[in-house]
Amino acid sequence: MANDLPPLEHVPYHLAAIMDGNGRWAKARGLPRQAGHRAGVENLRRILRACAEFRIRILTVYAFSTENWGRPEQEVRGLMNILETVIDREFEELNANGVQLRHLGNLDALSPELQAKVRNAVERTRNNDRLTLNLAFNYGGRDEILRAIRRIILDGVPAEQIDEVLFGLYLDTAGLPDPDLIVRTGGEMRISNFLVWQSVYAEYYATPTFWPDFDREELYKALVHFNKRERRFGLVTQT
Ligand code: IPE
Ligand code: IPE
Ligand code: MG
Repeated sequence: MANDLPPLEHVPYHLAAIMDGNGRWAKARGLPRQAGHRAGVENLRRILRACAEFRIRILTVYAFSTENWGRPEQEVRGLMNILETVIDREFEELNANGVQLRHLGNLDALSPELQAKVRNAVERTRNNDRLTLNLAFNYGGRDEILRAIRRIILDGVPAEQIDEVLFGLYLDTAGLPDPDLIVRTGGEMRISNFLVWQSVYAEYYATPTFWPDFDREELYKALVHFNKRERRFGLVTQT
């Protein structure tokens, strides 16, 4: 860790971020919303670097929800273009830095070209192990649960075999531990259909800072808060 910040006792193994506030960030500057989304991507690069520095192993980011399709067509198209540009421009660097890219959500609604790009990026980085970046794009927690249920039924799994472990294997996050900390930027105090199953014991941190301004120091502040939390998981504290 760069020595400007005191070391932390615990860091979340799995950090998740609801990257909210891009539109308001742009509006405050008299810019179009798309400029806010572009600034959001720039910030994701910074946060990814900070996560590596703080030794966070998994970063899950919420980039496009199943409900975001209801936005004006131009904005939806802009967000699809951003995903495509990010994969085209950032892939080599991410791969060279040992980032394993995973996708959470339903790819079927994306254009065939974009689906192929995402699948290819996921496939080519599958053996990287420095940091896992889960991109939740066309993701909804309820949709993920329903897709899991459908596949369990199609696999003919007997009812008595369905437990939390088996169910977890049918989710998009199969094989990954649950998030320890969920950060939401942009001031809202809600989960907006993010990681519905996985977040049951996650710690929450919300900040009014808009995502494009949520920098390394802001992340560090969130981690300091995380360090002060006592995670009880339904048990009682030993005294
Ligand atoms: C988050 O920023 C990014 C997406 C949901 C795609 P918003 O676009 O929701 O920004 P605000 O909340 O309108 O400021
Ligand atoms: C949540 O932000 C989804 C993403 C950040 C991708 P929204 O802006 O869509 O959420 P609401 O509408 O405020 O709940
Ligand atoms: Mg928003």
